[in-house]
Amino acid sequence: MRQFRQFGLKTKKLLDLNEFIHHKSSLYSYHLDHIYLVKRYSLLMASKLHLEVDPRKFEYIALAHDLFKERSLNPRKVSVQWRGHNIPQDTNRYVRMNLDILSQFLLDEYFNTDIQLHPLASAIFLIKELGVADPEILYPIMFHSCPIFPVYTTLNSVIRDMVDIVMLADKMSSNHLRINMREVAVRVDLDQIVFGSSGKEFNYTLGLLIARLISQGSSKETQSALMTEHYYNRLKEVNPLIANKCHIQKLGESKKWPKRNSQVLKLS
Ligand SMILES: [Fe+2]
Repeated sequence: MRQFRQFGLKTKKLLDLNEFIHHKSSLYSYHLDHIYLVKRYSLLMASKLHLEVDPRKFEYIALAHDLFKERSLNPRKVSVQWRGHNIPQDTNRYVRMNLDILSQFLLDEYFNTDIQLHPLASAIFLIKELGVADPEILYPIMFHSCPIFPVYTTLNSVIRDMVDIVMLADKMSSNHLRINMREVAVRVDLDQIVFGSSGKEFNYTLGLLIARLISQGSSKETQSALMTEHYYNRLKEVNPLIANKCHIQKLGESKKWPKRNSQVLKLS
């Protein structure tokens, strides 16, 4: 897929940073494919929703959201240096040392929830090391695994839309790669749910709930449950017949799905 991975020049530094952090990982190629698909899915959905946001922001978010996935860090070190920047290796420590930054986003109480540490570490790094201050970039990164409902409801509608889009794009990308590249069993084909088998549908509200259910898994964590309920209620508003108790088990057993082209990537 490498020939498809095209990013703008302004994000070259983030691409270099991804390479520095992740290149030794056996999943490096998968990681690059994943962030590229997050960008493509985000842009496609933003355009379908007529969201007036600079597309470069989605590119930046895609490139930054998984910078500090723990699998690629060296747990024996606190941090390493790269071009004058501190690259944290222990996300738990890094997040706890920077709760003052999270408090500016009303998130300092939530670092132990299903929000996860790597999204928070990415946002803290962007703020501290790269001077990023744009909430339209920071919130979608911090909330891509699990938005925090009491904070999410205070955000303006554009940022909320961006959070939703990135959360769904992240799951669609992983799901598509699992089916078509890694060939592993999964519960659903999320691309097919959102765009239909013809690719001409757009079941966005349903996609948001399914993505959230996948993220929640069997977790009973309070913020995760609150956010799932939020997406369930949104779907119920447009489809009152939806089952009133949603759970990951309702998505069915994992199975190997047939490979198929996505709306953002044609298989060669
Ligand atoms: Fe991701």
